[in-house]
Amino acid sequence: MKFFIDTANLDQIKEMQDLGIIDGVTTNPTLLSKEGAEPIEQLKKICEIVDGPISAEVVGLKTEEMVKEARELAKIAPNIVIKIPMTRDGIKAVKILESEGIKTNVTLVFSQNQVLIAAKAGASYISPFIGRLMDDGQDEIDMLWETMDIIKAYNFKSELIVASVRNSRHVIEAAKMGAHIATIPFNVLEKMFKHPRTDQGLDAFLKDWEKLQAQLKK
Ligand code: G3P
Repeated sequence: MKFFIDTANLDQIKEMQDLGIIDGVTTNPTLLSKEGAEPIEQLKKICEIVDGPISAEVVGLKTEEMVKEARELAKIAPNIVIKIPMTRDGIKAVKILESEGIKTNVTLVFSQNQVLIAAKAGASYISPFIGRLMDDGQDEIDMLWETMDIIKAYNFKSELIVASVRNSRHVIEAAKMGAHIATIPFNVLEKMFKHPRTDQGLDAFLKDWEKLQAQLKK
């Protein structure tokens, strides 16, 4: 299973990259706006840190606008993947871009039907937003299982990026069903490292070691 980090923050990306657990990055207009930097420059810097797929989203709504923007974004680096919203115009753009060798990530996906359409259009990646489904009181885990079944049943080339991850349980659920990728926010990645029993155990080991050293000195 691949881990992407869901942020446009350079410090957060560097920190997780240094730990060696990051395979890619996903950004969106909201995440880039939080950083306040010029988006193209920020994306260039991200591509210098991580050599896996880096998602950059278009903001145009018409197919022609999306395709034009995507072609420009794709010039940033060879590892740029274009995030396209799950709309009719978006799906047309996916077809065109994929035929030109530009990888796409269909975003704002909330249903199994949308997954099926994005897969049929030939998207390289599809991003179901499970946290937002959970916020709406829907069964986001059930939706993921059915989605994985659809992808596997027909051997679609699309890889699933489990997105809008809210907690470490979401990552476990995604892993259990064999999802290709989870894009995880920094705070959730941090929590995945931690367990109180690890800290307690380490503390006890070190105390016992010091005790032994003190005894040996006597
Ligand atoms: O990649 C963007 C997606 O993960 C959005 O997450 O937290 O805004 O629902 P969120």
